[in-house]
Amino acid sequence: MVLLIKDEYPEKLFQENGKRLDGRDKKELRPIKMEVDILKNADGSAYIEWGNNKIFAAVFGPREVHPHHLSKPDKGILRVFYRMATYSVFDRKRPAPGRREKEISMIIADCLEPVLFLELYPGTAFEIFIEVIDADGGTRCASTTVASLALADAGIPMKSLVTALAVGKIDGELVVDLSGIEDKAGEGDLPIAITWFNDEISLLQFDGEMDLSELDTILKDAKEAAKKIYEIQVNTLKNKYISIQNNIEKEKGGED
Ligand code: CDP
Repeated sequence: MVLLIKDEYPEKLFQENGKRLDGRDKKELRPIKMEVDILKNADGSAYIEWGNNKIFAAVFGPREVHPHHLSKPDKGILRVFYRMATYSVFDRKRPAPGRREKEISMIIADCLEPVLFLELYPGTAFEIFIEVIDADGGTRCASTTVASLALADAGIPMKSLVTALAVGKIDGELVVDLSGIEDKAGEGDLPIAITWFNDEISLLQFDGEMDLSELDTILKDAKEAAKKIYEIQVNTLKNKYISIQNNIEKEKGGED
C-alpha cells in the first residue's frame, strides 16, 4: 500500500513503459465489482469494490422524517450520510463526521436528486447511508455510483441510474479514474457524475490546474469510461433478477 504523505509522493506517476504506477493505461479504469441486496435490514443496498475502495450503501424510504421540521409539505426529501471509517485511510480518521464528510454527503444528494420523483412523496424522506470501509481515491464518485444502485435495488422509481468517476491530469497527461496517489500528487482532479436519462452532468467539481482546451477531451474520455461503469451497474441489477427468477423456477420444479 502507498502511504499518502506529502513529502513522500513519488516523483513520477508514470513508469518507463508509459503505464501508470498501478500498471494502467491512461484511459483504463481500476477493476470494479458490484453487488446488490446485501443488507437484510435496509430497503435496498449495494456494495462496490473499485480499485482499493470498498463501500456499502443502504437505502431506506419513503419513510417518516426525523426530525419532523425537516419534512416538506410538497415533496419528499433526500438525505445522504457519507461516512469514512476511521480505519479506511492510512492516517486514523477522526470518528466524528467532519466538514469533508458533510460536504460530500451534500454533493452526493445533489447528484442523485435529479433522478428521483421526490414530488410524488410529500412529507417523507429517502435516506442513504454510505460507509467507506477502505478508501483509495474517488470515494465520492464510487459512493454516488453505489448509492444509485442501492436506490434501484430498493425498487424506488428512478428516471435512470447515476454513474460518477474522477478524471484528471497527472504528469501533464489526461487520465481517467484517479487512484488515491494520483489524486494527491497529480495536477488536476475532476469528479463528474452523469444522469443517463438526460445525458447531463449532475456533478462537476475541479481541484488543481488544467488548460480550458483540455476540458472537452477529458469530459469525452470521462463519458466513455462512465458508460463502461454503467454497464456493470445494469448487469449487477439484471443478475439479481435472473437469480430470483431461477430460484422461483427451481421451487416450481420442486413442486411438480
Ligand atoms: O475520495 P475522494 O477522491 O472523493 O475525496 P478526496 O477528499 O479528494 O480524498 C482523496 C483520497 O484521499 C480519499 O479517497 C482517501 O484515499 C484519501 N483521504 C485520506 O487519506 N484521509 C482523509 N481524511 C480523507 C481522504
